[in-house]
Amino acid sequence: MSMDELEIIKTDLAQLVRLSLSEQADDVRLFVARLVRKYRATEPQLAEQLDLFLRNRPTRTSSPLRRAPPPPKTQHAMPVDDESRLTLLRVFNDPRDFPAPLFSEELGASLAQLVEERRQTDRLLAAGLQPSRSAIFVGPPGVGKSLTARWLAAQLGVPLYILDLTAVMSSLLGKSGSNLRSALDFAKRVPCVLFLDEIDAIAKRRSDEADVGELKRLVNVILQEVDNWPSTSLLVAATNHPELIDPALWRRFDLEIKFELPEQAAIKDAMRRFLGNDLPLLAKWIDVLALAFKGFSISDIERSIQKFRRTLALGTASDADLIEEFIRGRTQALERSARIELAVMLAKTKTLSQHVVSDLTGVSRDTIRKYVSETTKTVKGHKKA
Ligand SMILES: Nc1ncnc2c1ncn2[C@@H]1O[C@H](COP(=O)(O)OP(=O)(O)OP(=O)(O)O)[C@@H](O)[C@H]1O
Ligand SMILES: [Mg+2]
Repeated sequence: MSMDELEIIKTDLAQLVRLSLSEQADDVRLFVARLVRKYRATEPQLAEQLDLFLRNRPTRTSSPLRRAPPPPKTQHAMPVDDESRLTLLRVFNDPRDFPAPLFSEELGASLAQLVEERRQTDRLLAAGLQPSRSAIFVGPPGVGKSLTARWLAAQLGVPLYILDLTAVMSSLLGKSGSNLRSALDFAKRVPCVLFLDEIDAIAKRRSDEADVGELKRLVNVILQEVDNWPSTSLLVAATNHPELIDPALWRRFDLEIKFELPEQAAIKDAMRRFLGNDLPLLAKWIDVLALAFKGFSISDIERSIQKFRRTLALGTASDADLIEEFIRGRTQALERSARIELAVMLAKTKTLSQHVVSDLTGVSRDTIRKYVSETTKTVKGHKKA
């Protein structure tokens, strides 16, 4: 290499550093693209490497959209994975009156605060505070984590973007990091709720042996993004597996919001909601069913109730038949104390004989009789007192 060539390279290096430090990402890209052309003949390896860097780090709009039509001026284009052409983000634009999911009191209060923080950001700022920027929803499947994300966005009057992790992960090896980043970059620039569902899928502990390199890159992208998340958008992650999440990531969320399986009162609320107009048909079974639904998620309850309603609408079985069949299927899964409670409750409805109740629940008639008379006695006792 001649002294002249070395001088030129030094100048290029200095220029590149200057542009990088001024954080003009687009200028850096333009400059690097020029370097690729310039060095292709003399330094093919260097040119190839720079080209690779460019491709692996698409800008917000140019690279992911290379083959897509130009976006309308006023709207930001949705980022797309180069290879698979899958849209990385799914969007929901729900109206303000999107029905609220069922929340426990505690959960409802946390969510209400989250919404208020965003509606009254001015008050927070005046006090030198920021609204919560990120939250992680934790809880078993089917208790309303995804539904709540939709409701939150509707409450805030912004779109909900759901990051499709399958699209991110299906990217070519080495590209999922930049795909993830382009999706997150997009969500940072428009006020929205960004929902990272099943974040455990990518956020496994970094010590995990499997796909170490690739997963590590993804976790690192998320770590940085959560740190730098702007308060104009709300970042919500959800998981059924909190134990799989890297503690370093966990710490970075402003809020942890717990979703639980419903308790008896919440189970009854859910039944009433899902029964809708058919409530009168099954009203007398609500206490019994609430016991049989112990351990069910809200989604499981909804599914069972829909099935009951369809059967009743078709007239293929009576309500008592339905309940009988359902309870027969449930009793094995219940503990003995829960079975006894259920048997007593069933006996008290007086629709089924104690013989049938005993057969359904596997609790002996003696036991049923004993508990029925005992609970009646206690009730009387209370009345006297
Ligand atoms: N709290 C709730 N209030 C009203 N409906 C609910 C609630 N939870 C669940 N459902 C019903 O169950 C369906 C599935 O719930 P959702 O997808 O929100 O669960 P999830 O907690 O996100 O589960 P997963 O962890 O499997 O993603 C909802 O679309 C809704 O019909
Ligand atoms: Mg979900």
